[in-house]
Amino acid sequence: MEQRTERQLRGTDATFQAAVRGLPDLPRPPLPPDWLVAEMVERYLIVQESGAGSGETVVEVGSGGQALATIPLAHRVGESGRVLAVERERWDRFREIVTASGFGPRIRPVRADARRLPFDAGTFRLATCIHGVRSLGDDEGCVQVFREMLRVARRLFVAESLPVGRTVAQRAHLRMYELREEVFFATTGRRDDRRYRSIEDLRGLVERAGGVVEVCRTLEPDLPHALAFFPRSLVEAVPDPPLRGRLEDRWDRAVEELRRSGEDHPPVGVVLARA
Ligand SMILES: C[S@@+](CC[C@H](N)C(=O)[O-])C[C@H]1O[C@@H](n2cnc3c(N)ncnc32)[C@H](O)[C@@H]1O
Repeated sequence: MEQRTERQLRGTDATFQAAVRGLPDLPRPPLPPDWLVAEMVERYLIVQESGAGSGETVVEVGSGGQALATIPLAHRVGESGRVLAVERERWDRFREIVTASGFGPRIRPVRADARRLPFDAGTFRLATCIHGVRSLGDDEGCVQVFREMLRVARRLFVAESLPVGRTVAQRAHLRMYELREEVFFATTGRRDDRRYRSIEDLRGLVERAGGVVEVCRTLEPDLPHALAFFPRSLVEAVPDPPLRGRLEDRWDRAVEELRRSGEDHPPVGVVLARA
């Protein structure tokens, strides 16, 4: 395991460490073998900021196919707590990872669109969206989901990577990541993995949804991050030749930078607000 990942993992709670060390290897070349652990430790650091408490039931929006933030949330709420993991479509390794973590009894998967959550108003204290803003759509889409989260919960916690590259390895991440939205849109007609927003924009979206911001700050995860990469074959599938050429050039330069300097997690903006 990369030294920084091992050091940061050792700094986490013993039960979390045990859960993460028991996870299956998910080989996804060219990702390094410890990519899943690095991602979960990063989510653990974020979850510490969320105010989620022991014994609580937390609504998590956009849990994704690998339960990356779900596991740290389930650790945080403890044996008598619950995480309602809301996800619209991606469940690929969710069950396998949740089961291997040992936190299965604390986690309830909920297949739903977060624009209309299947919960009564004011039922929960906290709803979270961790690294999900990039997939919620345009500003209006984000505001709609945040408003709905504030309807069912009295507190909203949002965390997302920021478009800030303080080091060469963070800049290498951004260079490759920022190609994703354009390439995915050109090949599928759908926008996902949208460009990261600034901390001011994240705060503004929460306020537009009616949230009263109590905490707004930046975290520095100091961890590797290997998830920006996508295969060149996707760029080669862009139908419009001039656009394809421009994107291929940018992809070639981005991959060269990733190889040269590695890829680090950019700073993360966190916003905690009350309804
Ligand atoms: C970037 S991914 C996974 C984020 C994950 N929490 C993490 O820590 O990496 C964001 C997820 O949000 C989901 N999503 C987007 N819009 C949604 C909506 N309206 N309702 C439910 N899930 C949604 C997507 O399907 C995607 O799996």
